[in-house]
Amino acid sequence: DRSAAQEALTRLTVDVPDWPEPGVTFKDITPVLADHHAFSAVIDALAAAGRDDHGNVAVDKVVGMEARGFILAAPVALALGIGFVPVRKAGKLPRAAHAVSYSLEYGEATLEVHRDAIAPGERVLLVDDVLATGGTVVATRELVERCGGVATGVAVLMELGFLDPRKVTGDLPVSTLLTI
Ligand code: PRP
Repeated sequence: DRSAAQEALTRLTVDVPDWPEPGVTFKDITPVLADHHAFSAVIDALAAAGRDDHGNVAVDKVVGMEARGFILAAPVALALGIGFVPVRKAGKLPRAAHAVSYSLEYGEATLEVHRDAIAPGERVLLVDDVLATGGTVVATRELVERCGGVATGVAVLMELGFLDPRKVTGDLPVSTLLTI
């Protein structure tokens, strides 16, 4: 259940100070992935964001953002019995794609999705490991909308509350297991 997932996440996530740069504390979730019970619990907890109050699956696709989002979104899609769609960094997708650029602290990043990966009207759950500034989620929602889909929510393991991501995610429902 959700509290078991939260407990495992708290116990197994390793804080790495000053990585990838001084002043930043990196949340290393690889020990969570390496523990079958913990991994399974967090996947079930994330998948709950794709169900309605009766436990019925309420979305058509799960989108994961490169790279760590892939590790979580793919098993969430399988748990819900629906398809997985990768949102990739620029230049990785081989066929016609939509692209959205957004600003980072220094510079710009571009994310892409295949144009035919999401059908018009499809409901889409976004899944990632960490919600930090929210820029990745906002760009991904834009990609879903360019395809004609509807982002119904985002599910993450951790939200860095001190960066105020909900200021930019706006009305998109956020489901988070831990708020830092
Ligand atoms: C991290 C994380 C999220 C994003 C969150 O990915 O996995 O996707 O940053 O940050 P934001 O809310 O400020 O946009 P990163 O860009 O480091 O990519 P990676 O998973 O490929 O390492």
